[in-house]
Amino acid sequence: MSFWNRHKILETNSIILIVGILAVIAIGGLVEITPLFYLKSTIEKVDGMRPYTPLELTGRNIYVREGCYLCHSQMIRPLRDEVERYGHYSLAAESMYDHPFQWGSKRTGPDLARVGAKYSDDWHVRHLTDPRSIVPQSVMPGYPALAKTEVNIDDIAAHLRANREVGVPYTDDQIANATADLLAQVDPDSADVDAFQKRYPKAAVRNFDGRPGRPSELDALIAYLQMLGTLVDFKLYDEKANLR
Ligand code: HEC
Repeated sequence: MSFWNRHKILETNSIILIVGILAVIAIGGLVEITPLFYLKSTIEKVDGMRPYTPLELTGRNIYVREGCYLCHSQMIRPLRDEVERYGHYSLAAESMYDHPFQWGSKRTGPDLARVGAKYSDDWHVRHLTDPRSIVPQSVMPGYPALAKTEVNIDDIAAHLRANREVGVPYTDDQIANATADLLAQVDPDSADVDAFQKRYPKAAVRNFDGRPGRPSELDALIAYLQMLGTLVDFKLYDEKANLR
């Protein structure tokens, strides 16, 4: 009996065919899935990435609460027009501490993955309060209430802990000092600034909304926007990855 005649057994018996199909799919599935259980991480580690500071995390929560993602994506695709407009394409590692991630595909406004350091804090204060005072044809809504609302500093440690539950590597030290760190980031004169910057390398310390005193929601949102896309040194990254 030749090989192709034996194949006829499969073709004429649906039960044996189904068992055969399942066996083939199972082998394919195992080959794809098993390695994932033995990898420490499926995301490539990239120098410079760190978890959000308490103030940035608060800003991120406001970003999600206000639905900014409904008009803004945070993912630059590796296509020439996107890279020329927004900068280096996004890496998986850049959203490894995002729960949930903010990639999106709806772009009523521009992508924000690299908006950090593109404008001054003052620009953001004016733009978020009244977008049309800066871009007359803008359809973005204003968020004047953010400047008038103080950040709730009591539950920030709980937010850090919740993020740790889903895999963000916040340390006990970072959680214990969450409130002090949140206040230190908007107050360059605070005695806690050095300890804060040790816990969060490269974190900016300044008054983001231009108003002294307790951090407002505007402080938090601007702190978040100003760090977006600024943690990774892409010149170094491309050199290491041999892309340059
Ligand atoms: C209804 C859609 C819409 C929503 C909701 C929205 N935006 Fe925008 N956004 C736009 C549009 C359109 C522009 C471009 C015109 C402009 O600069 O105002 C823009 C521009 C921006 C820019 C400037 C980007 C750049 O590179 O020039 C930032 C920063 C920004 N938005 C932040 C936010 C934040 C933060 C929120 C949530 C609090 C938000 N937006 C909500 C539509 C929106």
